[in-house]
Amino acid sequence: MAIGTYVCDLATLVFALLLFSPSVLLSVDVRVFVKYPLPPGTTGPEAISFTEYGVGPFTGISDGSIIKLNPLLGTFEYFAYAAPNKNKTLCDGNSDPSLYSKCGRPLGSAFNGSDYLYFCDVYFGLNGVGPAGGQATQLVTSAGGQPVYYCNAVAVDPINGTVYFLDTSQRFKNILQMVLANDRSGRLLSYEPATGNVKVLENGLAGPAGLAISNDGSYLLISVIITQTIQKFYLTGPKANTLETLPTSILRPGNIERIGSRDEFLVPENIGPVVHYAIKIDGNGIVLGNESIAGPYTNVSYLRDLQPLGDSIFIGSEFDTFVGATASLLGLLSL
Ligand SMILES: *[C@@H]1O[C@H](CO)[C@@H](O)[C@H](O)[C@H]1NC(C)=O
Ligand SMILES: *[C@@H]1O[C@H](CO)[C@@H](O)[C@H](O)[C@H]1NC(C)=O
Ligand SMILES: *[C@@H]1O[C@H](CO)[C@@H](O)[C@H](O)[C@H]1NC(C)=O
Ligand SMILES: *[C@@H]1O[C@H](CO)[C@@H](O)[C@H](O)[C@H]1NC(C)=O
Ligand SMILES: *[C@@H]1O[C@H](CO)[C@@H](O)[C@H](O)[C@H]1NC(C)=O
Repeated sequence: MAIGTYVCDLATLVFALLLFSPSVLLSVDVRVFVKYPLPPGTTGPEAISFTEYGVGPFTGISDGSIIKLNPLLGTFEYFAYAAPNKNKTLCDGNSDPSLYSKCGRPLGSAFNGSDYLYFCDVYFGLNGVGPAGGQATQLVTSAGGQPVYYCNAVAVDPINGTVYFLDTSQRFKNILQMVLANDRSGRLLSYEPATGNVKVLENGLAGPAGLAISNDGSYLLISVIITQTIQKFYLTGPKANTLETLPTSILRPGNIERIGSRDEFLVPENIGPVVHYAIKIDGNGIVLGNESIAGPYTNVSYLRDLQPLGDSIFIGSEFDTFVGATASLLGLLSL
């Protein structure tokens, strides 16, 4: 998800920046970043995922593709896409939002434990693709009788393989417009791979953007843009099927990702156009860590994803032409 992902013209971007607080803190940056460049002409690695064996990163980009890093070369290779009969001549290498409806725009993704990748495409709903990649299988385009209008983030139940995903808004594909309208049409959905059953678990969410599942599959955490909160949806136990708002406020939160097999999670906080923090929370929303992120992200308006792998955190933003990685935030990953 993204403020301005679908309207990358300058006027809108400037307007989006005006919404940000004017306070700008400059500090000496001591963090070391590695940048993995996207294919030429493309932008927007909004969400990052790895297989359970740490293969990746995989990310969705502006030309409608899911790409995969070749770690030996340090470059990305084309992996998969959702658009039916995608015209690669037209689509590959482009970053023109007016082509998204033809070429697709993949956002969040998650593997299921057998290298099967589920991903959201804003224009083509929930999709799945095996390890060979290529044209994905379209799995879900509507839920509860309504189109999945803005498929955004995915999490897979580690115990039984149920797929949870977000329909960020049923009215807007543009997050800035969604925020200005104070939209409350977001939904939490589930998909059972064995039966194809799709359920609406929650309605009326205020711009749900990121989704993570606990290590034991007992709850989901949802980062919510408009209310700038984290919500918790219980899947099992006495509170099953209820939603709670946790007491933590995170300004302009991005996606939320679980740290390994611990019930700790990373969320980017975007305080202003050049000030970003990596926030670590537990399953009750208690803040366990808070580290500034600068480096190549100093001038980036929004950080969307902080995906941990081993000692590193991989960083995604729809305003970038690279995926960043840093091992300088170890404080957030240690016990
Ligand atoms: C694919 O796009 C290219 C470039 O726009 C165009 O020349 C070509 O006719 C398209 N191919 C198909 C099968 O539509
Ligand atoms: C992952 O999904 C694929 C395709 O549906 C399926 O064959 C495989 O059994 C699934 N693996 C797990 C661990 O759920
Ligand atoms: C998977 O677990 C969730 C609760 O954690 C439950 O709601 C769902 O029905 C389960 N699915 C299957 C296929 O067992
Ligand atoms: C993280 O730290 C920054 C700088 O001190 C602060 O402005 C921000 O509110 C903190 N965020 C959270 C969620 O605690
Ligand atoms: C940020 O942008 C300014 C103005 O374009 C430029 O001078 C500066 O080098 C940029 N800083 C970084 C870290 O990219």
